[in-house]
Amino acid sequence: MTDPAPSTTVPGDLPISVRRARPGDTHAVLDFARTTWDGWDYIPSVWQEWLEAPDGVVLVATPRAQREIDRFGRPLQPDRPIAIARVAMLSPDEAWLEGLRVDPGVRNRGVARLFHGACLAWARAQGATSVRYATGEDNEGSHRLGLHHGFRLLRPWRSYQPPHPRVDEAEEAETAASATLVGEDEFADLADEATGEVPADVAEQAMAAAAPEAEERTAEAPAGEPGVERAREELEEIEEREEDREELAAVTGEPWAAAGPPSPALSGATATLEQAALEKARRRLRRAGLLLDPGSAPDLRRRWWERVRDDPTFAMGDRLYEFRSWAFQELTEARFAAHVRAGEVLVMEEGSGRRHRRWALAVLPLGEALSADQRPWAALVAGDGAAVLDLAVATGRALARPLRLRIPDGAPLVTGHEDAFIAAGFPPARETLHLLARPLPSDAAVDLGDPGMVVFAEPPRRVTVPPGA
Ligand SMILES: CC(C)(COP(=O)(O)OP(=O)(O)OC[C@H]1O[C@@H](n2cnc3c(N)ncnc32)[C@H](O)[C@@H]1OP(=O)(O)O)[C@@H](O)C(=O)NCCC(=O)NCCS
Repeated sequence: MTDPAPSTTVPGDLPISVRRARPGDTHAVLDFARTTWDGWDYIPSVWQEWLEAPDGVVLVATPRAQREIDRFGRPLQPDRPIAIARVAMLSPDEAWLEGLRVDPGVRNRGVARLFHGACLAWARAQGATSVRYATGEDNEGSHRLGLHHGFRLLRPWRSYQPPHPRVDEAEEAETAASATLVGEDEFADLADEATGEVPADVAEQAMAAAAPEAEERTAEAPAGEPGVERAREELEEIEEREEDREELAAVTGEPWAAAGPPSPALSGATATLEQAALEKARRRLRRAGLLLDPGSAPDLRRRWWERVRDDPTFAMGDRLYEFRSWAFQELTEARFAAHVRAGEVLVMEEGSGRRHRRWALAVLPLGEALSADQRPWAALVAGDGAAVLDLAVATGRALARPLRLRIPDGAPLVTGHEDAFIAAGFPPARETLHLLARPLPSDAAVDLGDPGMVVFAEPPRRVTVPPGA
């Protein structure tokens, strides 16, 4: 056994009891976890799902002190949550901490410090040997917590995403053409990252870059007189729609070709529609020549893995990737092979001759994005900057949806290509996302303050079923 953690309780710290969250906590939790970031928080939209998800455990802290009042003069109630956090297992041995929130009425009283220790104890009980979490670069409280509990700061990551989240290509052309008329609200969706604002000057450059392209597109395809290229695209789209209908009819037994797709709510075919959307996306990527064939020979798969393994951007990013949106885990050769088999790896090679050949690779968790109805994101990009940009642009086109990239800050892949990223419509976010990590051997000391400061209403034990377990 390693030495027990030194006691770190500070006078005034509030002793807590820790247990798993229950449906009956919902009201109390959402009371303080609804408006965290300038009046907004994602917790209400994931709470129910979190309570039920088998891959993680949601913990709450409740006050143990008698007759305490919070800073707003409200009496604390014994079993009413004052803090929440989720311990998610991303793989059998990697834990991810998320959703830490302390009721503003009891902040700065050591609740997060004590609760963080309890979360580590729960992570360890799930079999985690490493723990990570992400926070904004300027979230000092969160950084101090990490420091206190033995976390180290990893390389920060910066996101790059098009300022126009367009779903439909025609709409995209129209919007890009009028982009210069659009105010800053156009970037509102980028605020889905607390840290993801696009600097105004960068956004302006990106819009300016997008506008001429839109004019070109409009000139190429005047209304009512489609060119040959446009006619071919339309034919392909009609064929795809036919294929989708046949696929769906085959699975659901519902011949809805004439009437259009069934309402998911009525037919209960949501999963099938998701599957159909996924297949369609894959087909488009395959047609665009981007998909690394899921049936690739092991030799080819290995060659691509070796490129990733030796890629300096991958090394700089601590060999992590973002398969679940906003959660980072290690990419191993076995996981890479599984992503190839699942049709989630895109590749591109450009130029000829050994010395001039450039390559790019992206892991694209399409199923995840579709089921969460999120904009698609690359879990990982590697290779040469110019080729990665071409791959990202081609992928966005094939999906008719813009892609979000997140790349270790200062990575060779971006260095020297900054202007090209902006010109291609991938301006950098102003702030970075900070990742923190610590190992968690089974005998690791976990700091729970002085005896009695943290009581487990339920002893930490293995309750989660991680993906791939
Ligand atoms: C960040 C947060 C969890 C801290 O909770 P808390 O119970 O007030 O924190 P504690 O009293 O246990 O303090 C923990 C450490 O953070 C520091 N800290 C807390 N709030 C801070 C703030 N606003 N600014 C700077 N430091 C802060 C404390 O000084 C302490 O540092 P120390 O151990 O070096 O003395 C809480 O403010 C919160 O819920 N914020 C909104 C959500 C959030 O930021 N979650 C974190 C990750 S996304």
